[in-house]
Amino acid sequence: MAFPPAFLEELKARVSLSDVVGRKVQLKRKSGSEYTGLCPFHNEKTPSFTVSDKKGFFYCFGCHEKGSAFDFVMKTEGLSFPEAVEQLARAVGMPVPQSTPEQRERAERASTLQEVVEHAARWFQKQLRLPVGRHGLDYLRGRGLSDETIDDFRLGFSPDSRDGVIAALKREGATMDKIVEAGLAIQPEDSHRDPYDRFRGRVMFPINDRRGRVIAFGGRVIGPGEPKYLNSPETPLFHKGANLYCLDRAREAVTKDQPVIVAEGYMDVIALHVAGFTGAVAPLGTALTEGQLGEVWKLADEPYLCFDGDNAGRRAAHRGADRALPLLTAGKSLRFIAMPAGEDPDSLIRARGPAAIDSVLKLARPLADVVWDLDTEGKPVDTPERRAALQREVEKRVDQIADPVVRDHYRAEMKSRLNKMRQGNGQAWWGAGAPGQRRSFHDGAAGPIAPFPPGTASRASAMDLDGSRQIQVLLGVLVERPALLHILYDEVSRLPIANPELARLQTGLLDALSLVPQGIDPAADEAVGSGTDEQPPLEAAIITDHLQRCGLGPAANAARLKARGVFRNGSEPSDIWIDRWRRTASHLTVTVGGSEELARRQEELASDLSDENLQKMEEFRLRRLRENFDSGAG
Ligand code: UTP
Ligand code: MN
Repeated sequence: MAFPPAFLEELKARVSLSDVVGRKVQLKRKSGSEYTGLCPFHNEKTPSFTVSDKKGFFYCFGCHEKGSAFDFVMKTEGLSFPEAVEQLARAVGMPVPQSTPEQRERAERASTLQEVVEHAARWFQKQLRLPVGRHGLDYLRGRGLSDETIDDFRLGFSPDSRDGVIAALKREGATMDKIVEAGLAIQPEDSHRDPYDRFRGRVMFPINDRRGRVIAFGGRVIGPGEPKYLNSPETPLFHKGANLYCLDRAREAVTKDQPVIVAEGYMDVIALHVAGFTGAVAPLGTALTEGQLGEVWKLADEPYLCFDGDNAGRRAAHRGADRALPLLTAGKSLRFIAMPAGEDPDSLIRARGPAAIDSVLKLARPLADVVWDLDTEGKPVDTPERRAALQREVEKRVDQIADPVVRDHYRAEMKSRLNKMRQGNGQAWWGAGAPGQRRSFHDGAAGPIAPFPPGTASRASAMDLDGSRQIQVLLGVLVERPALLHILYDEVSRLPIANPELARLQTGLLDALSLVPQGIDPAADEAVGSGTDEQPPLEAAIITDHLQRCGLGPAANAARLKARGVFRNGSEPSDIWIDRWRRTASHLTVTVGGSEELARRQEELASDLSDENLQKMEEFRLRRLRENFDSGAG
């Protein structure tokens, strides 16, 4: 909407630029109406930012940012021009002109409705600090929130009563119609019965509009109960598909170069903000909509989407990627964060601190990777026909991209991946398996590697003469306990592996270690000897993710299951695992001689890595050595 020029002139005259800037920047008066301070638009230690009240203009001699009060508000708070105008008008108490009577009426209705919601928010906040809200407060504190954070996010409590908020709002002069329209009360089907409070016995998360005004709520049960989160319904103020939790804060954060992170839950967003990631947002109880994607793309070219690292999370990521394709435009994309399985940002930060978020951000995968996975994951490509079928699928997928330029680039990218896949596979068929000949799967050009042709592994493991099953167990132990990889790295790289699929898993594991970001302490991931496995370590997630990217997910999983089977007690301390790992590995160097007894011993070990079986193997080996020695000597 265009504002009348006279209105804008008047507003400019009434607004004091130094007041507006002074809310964000500590200003020092230089002379008359001139001020200086540290520039909010770039990092500096000596002030080069100047404000002139007389000219109504700011300018930075360092980075050359300049503009009016409107520009300042737009740039520092991420607002549009009309929004900045409205905010400044509100601050100086000037009514904003509305063009048509209908517009005027709608604005008035919305504003009274918004006042109702604002009153409710204040009342919920107050309840949290009263005895009635005590267990709500305890709950929030128990989840690690400080009182400061609770106030900052205006968290509250809705008492378990039929008409708590209703009565409070009526005292403020709200009509029952408004209370229902605002989504705070539910009108029973039977219209003779009185409306009742929608939120009862829940901790309350106010949801703001893009400008920071409360328009709705999410309420979480305390303890078990359904639904876990109850949200306000759609109202004239609240459109779930076009808003995000903490969008108002994120808009301000991106002016400070914060990454935009789309998490799943309210608690995740709060934890991320507290940890310093103030560009975090979340959808409002639904999967990410097109409208929400549009909103986050306004804030960042390549926002991060967070998903749980488990299978459900992967499926959700795949759906998200598929949905984004038609909407892509030049420069706009997504990055996908796979959280360690079973963790969300909230729990990860609680367990490992903000640095863990930096790590998962660094490991985010570009959209193109996820799109590639959509059609190629787990598909055999061992014949020309299968490769052709795969190519058709991938091309069909890429055709969903509406933007012709982006589509062309995706076509080229996918074609080159298909070509590489063929090469990668060729190598795996004929080249891999030579011990000591490590090939890196991620040295730039390699790209994702196709799954190994089916059948190769089973053929080799039908009889364990080459030690494949033992090797599978040994590698499985490392998948299960990646922290051991640091200790056993050299031994792992020396394992004599004939089976090509297992050789690929070996390479994948060794490569994955180089991906683990510095600063993740393997000892913290798993205190060696403590024997506790409370949470899946971040490092494990990184390694699993890498293996999956190389098409080694199924092989890793199979190996892990084997290892779990042989270690009867998964919580045994790591030094026991290391010891058995070394002993088992040492038997692989026994000359493969086709002896029936050797086969039997290896079979035993592969199905039960007990001390008893290890001992038998050791005795057998000693006997063999002695026999060899005797026959050589005699
Ligand atoms: P989750 O069930 O994953 O929970 O819901 P969470 O965010 O980790 O919650 P906490 O940590 O147990 O408190 C993710 C998000 O999905 C929406 C909410 O926005 C929630 O934050 N949701 C979930 C609902 O809207 N309704 C529900 O019943 C459950
Ligand atoms: Mn959670």
